[in-house]
Amino acid sequence: MWCSMFFHLLVFWAGRVESAKILMSGVLGEGSHFTALVPIGRSLVQQGHSVTFLISEEYSYRARDPELSRLFEFEIFHYNDETLNANEFFRGFAQIGVEGSNGFIQLLQTYSIGRRVQVDMCESVLEDKAMMSRLATMDAIVFELPWPCSIFIKSYIERHLNAADVRMVLSSATAPVSTMFLMAGSPFNPAYQPASYTSYSSSMTFFQRMINSAYSLVLTSIMEFIMRNAYKQTVEKFDLHPNMASLSGSHEYIDLFLTNCDFATEFPFPLMPNVIAVGGLTARAAMPLEPELEDFMQSSGDHGVVVFSMGSYFASFTTHRQDLMKMILEALSRMPQKVVMQIKDPTLYSLPENVKAMPWISQNDLLGHPKTKAFLFHAGNNGYLEALYHGVPMVVIPIFGDHIDVTVRILSRGLGLMISKDNISADYLQHQLQEVLANSSYDATAKRLSAIFRDRPLGPADRAAFWIQHVIKHGGNYMRSPAHDLSFIQYHLIDIGLFMLLMTCLAFYVPFLFLGRCFSHTSESQSKCKSD
Ligand SMILES: *[C@@H]1O[C@H](CO)[C@@H](O)[C@H](O)[C@H]1NC(C)=O
Ligand SMILES: *[C@@H]1O[C@H](CO)[C@@H](O)[C@H](O)[C@H]1NC(C)=O
Repeated sequence: MWCSMFFHLLVFWAGRVESAKILMSGVLGEGSHFTALVPIGRSLVQQGHSVTFLISEEYSYRARDPELSRLFEFEIFHYNDETLNANEFFRGFAQIGVEGSNGFIQLLQTYSIGRRVQVDMCESVLEDKAMMSRLATMDAIVFELPWPCSIFIKSYIERHLNAADVRMVLSSATAPVSTMFLMAGSPFNPAYQPASYTSYSSSMTFFQRMINSAYSLVLTSIMEFIMRNAYKQTVEKFDLHPNMASLSGSHEYIDLFLTNCDFATEFPFPLMPNVIAVGGLTARAAMPLEPELEDFMQSSGDHGVVVFSMGSYFASFTTHRQDLMKMILEALSRMPQKVVMQIKDPTLYSLPENVKAMPWISQNDLLGHPKTKAFLFHAGNNGYLEALYHGVPMVVIPIFGDHIDVTVRILSRGLGLMISKDNISADYLQHQLQEVLANSSYDATAKRLSAIFRDRPLGPADRAAFWIQHVIKHGGNYMRSPAHDLSFIQYHLIDIGLFMLLMTCLAFYVPFLFLGRCFSHTSESQSKCKSD
């Protein structure tokens, strides 16, 4: 028996990829883009690889986190400019999110404040020669689109430090991004695929399809323009590959694309083999709560608990919008349920009896608790997929970017209700929460879709880790979409369409031409007759 166990162990070890060195870069080390990469990193470490996270010095506390520091190495980059501040950057875009309208204009506004942070910080990374020579030993880089510096790191270490063929994996923590599918050469059909930030579902009217088609083109062109211009000087200054600062050239250097969605709730659409759906990265079986919190959960009796959170990027909502928070607290105080809230500074409010507020909550564990009946949140993609995993119905207040996309999915699948941030009132919030809690169809739908979501051969993080190892071994070139070899006109069959139209016209026109000749002959002869 020992012999056979030993043999199996041997086979198990021999079947694995040699230990690879993988760099992960999830937007400076803050928020959902970072937390979505951690489970992938954990799975890779468990399979014998070494994973290093690149983070900014403002989030260096990550490197001191007991769990993270046990699993990962950290590279922390510094910048000398006092005025350059990632914290400010995130606060700025949270403010735009809370004050402004939703959608694309919002993104353009954040671009103007984000550009300096993105480009200048990236240059700080590239200027750190000691760090760059350590990064030159990496086999693969996994990165998030909102901080594309990793692309330039690859270019730098390949051009200047003799690194060979570093594999690139682009991961997107957000709801499906049309631009990413176009980068991957994966089909994006605006007839039934809603573009990001449009608030459309897969079933669109004529007018919506027109907007959706135009919008997805414009969105990609603008992203391309921004990328090219923002990093133009960086590319020159560090002598980087000129094609790297473009989205349309990305197929030449990105091997694999990971998208944080799952077809349990996603509107169905086709994917190229180089795009893998890994929705629900941060969702996992719930761990036991602290005894004090567990007692609070149990004290809710049959009514159960509502969980409230505005996520990490928008945590400042709970301090800056005290007017809205007071309204939310007012509505919650009228509910028979108990409420667990994540509020950055709970001392700012006089909390109702039934509310427990904390600066940080273990969201996934709370959502997995049997007493939890509903989730009130900002419609962030990670929270959405955690609630889906645990089968919890939702009420959402979308704030920014992809929140509106997540909201559309929640509404059209019957998983919950929304409240517009411009239209919050205590009465309306109470009404929406009561509806979701009292009408059993939301809970039943959540449980049904949760069962579908969990019924997969590999969990999302392990699936992502599997494919990362796969492209480290084989590269992603064999999966590269042939769409990249076609022009816009060829891809959309515009040339064929025009040719067929021409042939059809000719097919009608030629016989018509003959008939026309005959007619004109007869009329000519007639007129001749008359004049005669
Ligand atoms: C705004 O709130 C009212 C209730 O206060 C609700 O009836 C109405 O549908 C809401 N409007 C929108 C656009 O959400
Ligand atoms: C419960 O919600 C579903 C889905 O929104 C709706 O179709 C149904 O009419 C509701 N039932 C009641 C009793 O309100």
